Amino acid sequence: MKVLVTDPIADPGLERLREAGHEVETDYDVEGEALLDAVRDANALVVRSGTDVSREVFEAAEDLVIVGRAGIGVDNIDIDAATDHGVVVANAPEGNVRAAAEHTVAMTFAAARSIPQAHGRLKDGEWAKGEFLGTELNNKTLGIVGLGRVGQEVAKRLDSLGMDLVVYDPYISEERAAQFGADLVDDLHETLARADVATVHTPLLPETEGMIGEDELAQLEGGYLINCARGGIVDEDALAAAVEDGVVAGAALDSFAEEPLPADSPLLDVEDVVVTPHLGASTEAAQENVAVDTAEAVIAAFDGEPVLTA
Ligand code: NAD
Ligand code: MLT
Repeated sequence: MKVLVTDPIADPGLERLREAGHEVETDYDVEGEALLDAVRDANALVVRSGTDVSREVFEAAEDLVIVGRAGIGVDNIDIDAATDHGVVVANAPEGNVRAAAEHTVAMTFAAARSIPQAHGRLKDGEWAKGEFLGTELNNKTLGIVGLGRVGQEVAKRLDSLGMDLVVYDPYISEERAAQFGADLVDDLHETLARADVATVHTPLLPETEGMIGEDELAQLEGGYLINCARGGIVDEDALAAAVEDGVVAGAALDSFAEEPLPADSPLLDVEDVVVTPHLGASTEAAQENVAVDTAEAVIAAFDGEPVLTA
């Protein structure tokens, strides 16, 4: 069977596919017509977040059995089109959860202690010690929007650093939140109003698109907003304005509405906004995990065995 891989995945995943006797073609950064040509004779397509797996892709790929997403979010895959064409979509929901949680914690510290800004000033030869007065996380309140796999790992880590936890997630029980030492609140605005730091961990869905906008940022007054989930959940214009106007103290973002390189995002020009280029899952361990898990899903689909669908 032919497996087309259009975003870089770790070698152990590619090796696993080859060991199982499949032909693996890597064609990174292919898009548009070139992607449609490349996928025409593929039986599996393996992607990360860089490939837009649109309806046209499913129409072009008549022999496609499975799309494997070496990561969590499937917002770059047209799931309805996959269903219409009888193609399985499998993600790797576990392997990068801890990496994403650790990155979220790192971004929280980066924002609260202005680490990138201070680093930049010192590298430029300036000892700006008097200009940075950070926020201590101990005894502050963390608002978690979405207590799924990543949100839970973030909760454990920031709880252990002395933060109080409040959660907004309409799909979990009070008991579930309590297992993580968190108060479940049934109102997003109240969660943000109670938080000193708010961190977003929902999928990007029609329901969550733009869920953090001007009104929500006003509730977070004086706090920090962290988004290592998906661009599009937070309104970037509203966030840039809220940080610039001092409504919120700062923000840290790993994901953007436009990727790669959100050149037009107003956030890139705001001093108190820390940014990274979608690095949440970029650890060696996480990349090996998701590559191997995705390879196993592809092999199982080819063998007619059950596959956990996204
Ligand atoms: P998950 O599905 O395990 O958890 C998502 C949680 O969000 C669930 O508990 C769900 O009930 C909740 N939710 C859904 N709609 C909601 C709403 N309207 N309001 C509040 N909560 C809502 O997902 P996960 O594995 O924890 O991943 C979370 C996010 O992180 C996803 O967007 C994923 O793509 C992203 N992610 C990013 C990186 C990165 O590299 N930056 C890495 C891993 C995951
Ligand atoms: C994910 O959803 O798993 C992340 O986007 C990680 C990635 O693939 O970069």
